Amino acid sequence: MCGIVGYVGKDTERVLIEKLKQLEYRGYDSAGIAVKAEQKINVFKAKGEIKNLEKTIVPLKDAQFGIGHTRWATHGKPDEINAHPHVSSDDKWVIVHNGIIENYLEIKDELTKKGMSFYSETDTETVAKLLEFHSRKVEDKMEIISETCDTIKGSYALAILNKETNGIYFAKNKSPLFIAKKGENVMIASDVICFYGFADEYYSVEDGEIGYTDANTLVFKNKFGEVVKNPIKCDFGNYNNANTYKHFMIKEIYETKNAIKNIIEYYSQEENRNKILLRKLDGIKRIKIVGCGTAYHAGLMGSKIFEEKLGIECTAYVASEFRYQDPKIGDDTLVILISQSGETADTLAAHEISKQKGAVTLALVNVEYSALAKSADISVPIKAGVEVAVASTKAYSSQLTVLYILAGLLREKFIGDKFNMADVEKLYNEFDYGNINNFKLLADVFQYNDKMFMIGRGADYCTAQEASLKIKETSYINSDTYYAGELKHGFLALIDEKTYVVVFATEKNVLSKTLCNAEEAKARGAKIILFTCFDLEPSLTENFYFVIKVKELGNALQAVLNIVPWQIIAYYTSVNKGYNPDKPRNLAKSVTVE
Ligand code: F6R
Repeated sequence: MCGIVGYVGKDTERVLIEKLKQLEYRGYDSAGIAVKAEQKINVFKAKGEIKNLEKTIVPLKDAQFGIGHTRWATHGKPDEINAHPHVSSDDKWVIVHNGIIENYLEIKDELTKKGMSFYSETDTETVAKLLEFHSRKVEDKMEIISETCDTIKGSYALAILNKETNGIYFAKNKSPLFIAKKGENVMIASDVICFYGFADEYYSVEDGEIGYTDANTLVFKNKFGEVVKNPIKCDFGNYNNANTYKHFMIKEIYETKNAIKNIIEYYSQEENRNKILLRKLDGIKRIKIVGCGTAYHAGLMGSKIFEEKLGIECTAYVASEFRYQDPKIGDDTLVILISQSGETADTLAAHEISKQKGAVTLALVNVEYSALAKSADISVPIKAGVEVAVASTKAYSSQLTVLYILAGLLREKFIGDKFNMADVEKLYNEFDYGNINNFKLLADVFQYNDKMFMIGRGADYCTAQEASLKIKETSYINSDTYYAGELKHGFLALIDEKTYVVVFATEKNVLSKTLCNAEEAKARGAKIILFTCFDLEPSLTENFYFVIKVKELGNALQAVLNIVPWQIIAYYTSVNKGYNPDKPRNLAKSVTVE
């Protein structure tokens, strides 16, 4: 969703635009920058893509520093007026903001009564106006910012310019914000990825902190005074903009095998396993797994693995439901929160509720510096490396792999069976990306289709859910998922000769049942695409439209091998249809609002 950048240094506009482009993957619908040059703050904003913003920028002499923003509309439509930066009425304060000011209507009301007027529908504008309001009675800029932060409620990462100061102020609560300084140049960003090519280390701004930076200064303060921080090493993994792939999505799918290698290396080290094994987890009687979208699908699969390996109750929940359900949890509950970004608003809220109710929380995250990773009792990294494409691919495979390891480690802890990496090593050794020509053939067919079904039983149902989501979000095809056994209970009525039904059949104990369901759909005219890991008698599959066969692993990590072909098929279907698979319409990479 929204992105923030700030820069102190020459060529300010160019650097801000370059960095905003690096944040594009998070999703946005307008953008803007504010640059101090020629003794004034110059603001440029545009609806739509950053290239529209670029067209509005006039050359500036002696630009010294500035701030920029990509906005994903929450309060007010996506237009130029609502785009950030927002400016106070006296033109002295210019701000960009990520997050949501929950009491903005109250503040707006108060300030309107005091004679102030508003030009936008945003919550952010109230912060610019509040800064102006507080500066009527207070001189010191940091104090003005501190008072403003005391007045606002909600989440915010703020980068702030003031007409009279030659630097950038900042403040943070619940929304991520980071700063890197290299010589006289400073970069502020809501995503560490912006530091790629700029710095090797950065500072993390913590909740409740405000600060100021210019060519010579970088200061952080909280309510107790100045804060001295240690820099954190940047870890960009295999992130590289100048890659040889046409899109991040396909690049990231092809990074899956390497991600599994990273996972094996990380969890083979005793000190990393001990982060789980040495935790006090006495009295845990049940496990709840919580996530959104793809992370939820990983959780669904995880709940099966945990129940099988630990023999205790384990249920997966969608975070947006969990948080409002008054979940039955207490100090006998381990809540596992899965999130690639570690910034998803619903998952963070689910974490907060779990803590309030006394549960032990464990975050399974890709972004190791994220809010979720920092706030959970135990943080378990999935080691997938930076994921840029909105559609999650290698992160899902890594989530499944780490859930499998986690279940093994908890089994060692609770039951005493020593965990070993053999199954995961087998996954790595057997891993391949499948027959790409076959996948492209299917993508050629799917591009002309606007309705399909994916069915399966047990773990196959979870794969069907995730495969279906990939097709939906990248190719805008209405792909629905059902338990195979539910066919006769309703959705058979939807099947005709134009319907493609993908049948996932990699669960041995229900194979014959699932094949029967495939026949039932076939008998009603459906074109069956059978997905299996078994060598089936030719007579069993000769009536089917297409068969995809993957290797048989013989354990729950089969799910990792099963999803990759569908990620590739979704990618090529999207490309065939002329869409950008990296940026599906209306979606954002990290969903930081409810
Ligand atoms: C789908 C996808 C989303 C995310 C979901 C949760 O491809 O990427 O469904 O999985 O928005 O995001 P995280 O994992 O960052 O919490």
